[in-house]
Amino acid sequence: MLLNRKILTLDEFTIQQLREFPHATGELSNLLRDLGLAAKRVNVEVNKAGLVDILGDAGSTNVQGEDVKKLDVFANDQFTGVLRHGISCAGIASEELDDYVAFDDAVSRQSKYVCLFDPLDGSGNIDVNVSIGTIFGIYRRVTGKGELASKADFLQAGINQVAAGYIVYGSSTMLVYATRRGVNGFTLDPSIGEFTLSHPDIKCPPSGGIYSVNHGNFFRYEKGVQNYITACQKKDKTSGGPYTQRYIGSMVSDVHRNLIKGGIFMYPGTVDKPKGKLRLLYECNPFAFIVEVAGGKATNGRQRILDIVPTELHQRTPMFIGSREMMDELEQNMTLS
Ligand code: AHG
Ligand code: MN
Ligand code: MN
Repeated sequence: MLLNRKILTLDEFTIQQLREFPHATGELSNLLRDLGLAAKRVNVEVNKAGLVDILGDAGSTNVQGEDVKKLDVFANDQFTGVLRHGISCAGIASEELDDYVAFDDAVSRQSKYVCLFDPLDGSGNIDVNVSIGTIFGIYRRVTGKGELASKADFLQAGINQVAAGYIVYGSSTMLVYATRRGVNGFTLDPSIGEFTLSHPDIKCPPSGGIYSVNHGNFFRYEKGVQNYITACQKKDKTSGGPYTQRYIGSMVSDVHRNLIKGGIFMYPGTVDKPKGKLRLLYECNPFAFIVEVAGGKATNGRQRILDIVPTELHQRTPMFIGSREMMDELEQNMTLS
């Protein structure tokens, strides 16, 4: 039997990191382990998504007499549940819930962190078997230990994130998370049911050849964005030819690919929706944190995403994120127009 001790599981990795900080309490490792567990449960259901019609439509009762929940509600319940019963999280806010939830029990009141998440991103893609994901951001709470978590804990600028990550339920299932020390990716090994370190110390290439945007909205974008998209198409031989356009419609998969290969992802504002579609707290801040730690950039076109001080839990923002040099070129186009 081959025993390769160089291959670390997510738990082994976070514990190894902990050993380097003798004063750390282990609460963050616990939180990541809880999120990994919820991800594995969601993964099992995502893999069965095509069977929903056989086992019962979402919203109905399946052949076992159980209520069949929509997958995003199921995912929301899983992530909320593990965090509620864990020892590290004082409360959560989720794209699926109108308001934040403060966990009102003796252990949670003593916990250091709050977690904000989009439990299932790209859920419109489930029916057609395209990759979807989960996105999360973790903050140290600003209220004191022993108190109930409050809205101020959740309305922090993204720069305050202690860690952020995502899970891609794709051709393989991956969990990627960042702390200020770096970005690391773990692939779910189905044979042992563990996330296993497969992409250590991920760096976003400074440039790349992929741009990702919903082209259907082209004529609704502001001039600077249109100019940049046109520039991507006009690249000539000296610059390696035109960029390739790739847009899955699952932000997790689109940004994951561009993070690894180099590229830019855009969800600009449109004439009718000037703030775009993506949510600052659940989608943009976690990715901005991850991509910046990996060496890339993320802005709303004018301001760094991580510096925006939120005023509402569900606020939206235009989002531009990716390789540093591509972001610089985009910003030049936006300031010139
Ligand atoms: P969600 O499924 O959580 O609502 O988010 C979907 C988002 C994002 O993942 C994706 O990039 C974007 O919606 C696609 O939107 P368009 O179809 O408007 O391009
Ligand atoms: Mn989403
Ligand atoms: Mn969602």
